[in-house]
Amino acid sequence: MLRAIEHKKGAVLILDQSRLPHSITDIKCTSWRQVSRCIKELKIRGAPAIGIAAAMGYALGAEEINAKDTGTLIEKLAPVFEGLFESRPTAVNLGWALQRMMEKARLLAGEGRTVRQIKDALWREAGLIHKEDIRINKAIGVWGSQFIKDGDVILTHCNAGALATGGYGTATAPIFLAHKQGKRIHVIVDETRPVLQGARLTALEMREAGIPMTLITDNSAGALLQQRRINLAIVGTDRTTRNGDVANKIGTYSVAVLCKENKVPFYVAAPLSSIDFSMRSGGLIPIEQRHENEVFFVRGRRIAPTGIRAANLAFDVTPARYVTAIITEVGAFRPNQLKKIASGKGAGLDAVRYVP
Ligand code: MRU
Repeated sequence: MLRAIEHKKGAVLILDQSRLPHSITDIKCTSWRQVSRCIKELKIRGAPAIGIAAAMGYALGAEEINAKDTGTLIEKLAPVFEGLFESRPTAVNLGWALQRMMEKARLLAGEGRTVRQIKDALWREAGLIHKEDIRINKAIGVWGSQFIKDGDVILTHCNAGALATGGYGTATAPIFLAHKQGKRIHVIVDETRPVLQGARLTALEMREAGIPMTLITDNSAGALLQQRRINLAIVGTDRTTRNGDVANKIGTYSVAVLCKENKVPFYVAAPLSSIDFSMRSGGLIPIEQRHENEVFFVRGRRIAPTGIRAANLAFDVTPARYVTAIITEVGAFRPNQLKKIASGKGAGLDAVRYVP
């Protein structure tokens, strides 16, 4: 399975996803600014993956700081936090990971650890975030594969696969597991204009895993749903709010509405780190607007006349009423039950888990 990011000998290796599927090339980052640029330019993308990148970027930032005492280290880490935080606005995982890294640094400074000890601990923490993410995705797979039956045709949008995470993926985890369990499944992959994460990345991941798939243009999904050729949809999320509204790649909302219209279940795979329990509803989610050139050009070639404008919203918000269930590492839940898992784990979850 392709891996999006790795920490190796004090550097952060980022697989350049903008060059996939044609070339597998790593970018070696030796400064937090390089990591931030990779996030901005979608060399690494997908909510959990950019969280991991931000965590590693923070550890790299700490390494770049020449501090004699921990007070200075903590002070100089503030602009690193800010710079990485501003890389992309929508995925909550980015801020979540940075917050965790900052708290770790502060805690250790408070405990009287040395500058070197804190720097080493930050690398370990970033590694832990990475490892935990893979474990979480596998748990999402276990819960989510229950919704996939032998013979199902599954629609997915964008890439919420191994490349978008520490490994294994969120929306793809139930798909990978169902396939491993021997269920005969077929995946319909939306190409996902304008950056083509579906065509370039999800299609590649499905092919590598040997899962039968068909690539479609985004505007074909409605017709296939209408013709009863899709049994369920599973997508990822960049930020899901407390009330169950889901921000994900532009076009997700259309898929969700079309699923409801055609009585097809629409599932969202979301690690708890992608759920923003502090945010009441989807209207408050900052939606990234990207450069219009992503719309004007396809793989370096201009497809529209000059002298016009383009809108390029990177994400949309699907209201909770279109979401059948949100699949997390602790179970699947109706969106209106999310509030009850705010504490993460613990007793009482059995009572609110979604059973189809
Ligand atoms: O712009 P991108 O490629 O970062 O958008 C990615 C998505 O929309 C994914 O579906 C989402 O981040 C979930 S990844 C597990």
